[in-house]
Amino acid sequence: MIRRTNSFDEHISIVGLATTRPIRLDGTNDSHPLSHSPSPSIGGGAPCRPGNIGVIIAIDGPAASGKGTLGRLIAAHYGLPHLDTGLLYRAVALSLLDAGERPDDIAAATAAAQALVPDFADARLRDRQLGEAASIVAAMPGVRAALVDMQRRFACQPEGAVLDGRDIGTVICPEADAKLFVTATPEERARRRVAELRARGENVDLDAMLDDIRKRDERDGSRTIAPLRRAPDARLLDTTELDIEAAFRAALRIIESV
Ligand code: CDP
Repeated sequence: MIRRTNSFDEHISIVGLATTRPIRLDGTNDSHPLSHSPSPSIGGGAPCRPGNIGVIIAIDGPAASGKGTLGRLIAAHYGLPHLDTGLLYRAVALSLLDAGERPDDIAAATAAAQALVPDFADARLRDRQLGEAASIVAAMPGVRAALVDMQRRFACQPEGAVLDGRDIGTVICPEADAKLFVTATPEERARRRVAELRARGENVDLDAMLDDIRKRDERDGSRTIAPLRRAPDARLLDTTELDIEAAFRAALRIIESV
């Protein structure tokens, strides 16, 4: 279905460089897919405009399932722009915390989402406690509504896009050409996240991380708006027993078969 562009080894070397095309983050360019536009709405699906022929790949899954890494590799493989939508919720949480607000303050969180100009270069976005705060703001309908439209416009770029998150295949891009639901056991996900954070110099206890992961699974899966769900037409990819290269190859096989 999609033209192959690079070998796995080439992907590894260009990850982080070529996976997401340069993005203007000053919020002044209304035509940019990550700028805000009026009247965002939720649910029901908002397919890309007729005539848009880009390929959209939707990747959903729980915390630390490997969806972000796979999203980057798949985007590099096909030469598509990539958006890790979790970073948007993390950025909302960060702007709240920077302003001295609490993550459970609905009015403040909604206002922060409406004014969001994400800076993906901010290393604090990947901090452990921000994942927790992001999951709190992500359960708020006003926050999600404020972020829907920019995600859909990112997806609807003429060349297509890869998006990863929790509701890409169900809410943001129900019309996606290929949908993956990436998962792994909570124990394996906790182990991976601890390794990732330790590599960044953050010292985290495995049991505490497993608690985090379980709490986040519960909150993301039980919220009333856009809960974490596998779309009926999404293909399941369990990465528990797979290293990243094997998971990447399995993901490509799924994408090429749809
Ligand atoms: O990286 P990790 O898998 O830990 O989480 P993330 O993808 O950065 O997302 C952080 C939180 O944002 C999640 O726990 C979700 O609550 C929320 N989120 C969401 O609700 N919808 C998305 N499309 C992406 C993230």
